[in-house]
Amino acid sequence: MKQVYTIHDLTTRDALDSGFEKPAKLAVLGWPVAHSASPRMHQPALDKLGIDARYIRLEVEPGGIPGAFARMRELGFIGCNVTVPHKFDALAHCDEVHPDALVLGAVNTVRFDADATRGFNTDGPGFARAIEEGFGVSLAGLRVAVAGAGGGAGQAIASQCALAGAARLVLVNRSLEKLGPMIAKLRETGSATEMLALSLEDSSLAEQCLECDLIVNTSSVGLKEGDPSILTAACLKPGHLVYDTIYQPPVTPLLALAASRGCRTSNGLSMLLHQGVLAFRHWFPQSDPLEVMRAALSHSSSAGG
Ligand code: ATR
Repeated sequence: MKQVYTIHDLTTRDALDSGFEKPAKLAVLGWPVAHSASPRMHQPALDKLGIDARYIRLEVEPGGIPGAFARMRELGFIGCNVTVPHKFDALAHCDEVHPDALVLGAVNTVRFDADATRGFNTDGPGFARAIEEGFGVSLAGLRVAVAGAGGGAGQAIASQCALAGAARLVLVNRSLEKLGPMIAKLRETGSATEMLALSLEDSSLAEQCLECDLIVNTSSVGLKEGDPSILTAACLKPGHLVYDTIYQPPVTPLLALAASRGCRTSNGLSMLLHQGVLAFRHWFPQSDPLEVMRAALSHSSSAGG
């Protein structure tokens, strides 16, 4: 099976699908994209629901989104997922963008309708569901600290918290200057969420984190072997809810530290799952792919895939 396609493979239907049982109708677009877990959950859902479509990985160079969208429309694709670094470009090249995706500042799900290319963001809502499922709480009224709030995932999650009516948002980033414009944009939405920006070096960081209910790592710190925990033990207390958007490794240094401090912890696999389920439902609104996608993901992650 071909692992990664490029725009040069999007020539004709015959060339794209020769040797396959099902036509390629959905894709994840990224750069790089070979590591993407999305096909591992979407294809089993398509197969289980009897949908005649193949979900492929499509490597798209920076700047290549408009060309890729145009070719996919011509070939009759249903839609696509968009991942790093294309989520901002995808928003710019949709005809219509869901209002929440505009606030989140990024599009990760696209549907090629006959009359328009429509963009959505399921990262934020997927995070909200992951928190509800993992910790049994809703974001409304919650006090949340987001570490790494200046990155793409951080912006989506912080915006989701504000949209969902979190009581307080403590936005933490290594470089403080990225947070000002984001807070200004969130305030423009009329959100009543109290917002505070802090650098990772700020002397009040621990005190501010201790005043929160939920601590989220949205930075890339913890992905690489030998990475430290993004937050120190002083920022964590028993009973804290601690979510790491990283799922590989399954127990990051932050989650290990949090567990040792008596916090409740959860990793990013649940957000990956729920953003995928919500994307699938944008393409196939009547479907319920949750359990098949959950099983596929847990099987492939326990198999080291
Ligand atoms: P993006 O998600 O936009 O591609 P990224 O480069 O992957 O961005 O970084 C995601 C987040 O991880 C950012 O908040 C980044 O902090 P800066 O905005 O200050 O760059 C954070 N991050 C990455 N490496 C870090 C480190 N060593 N220490 C602290 N934060 C780090």
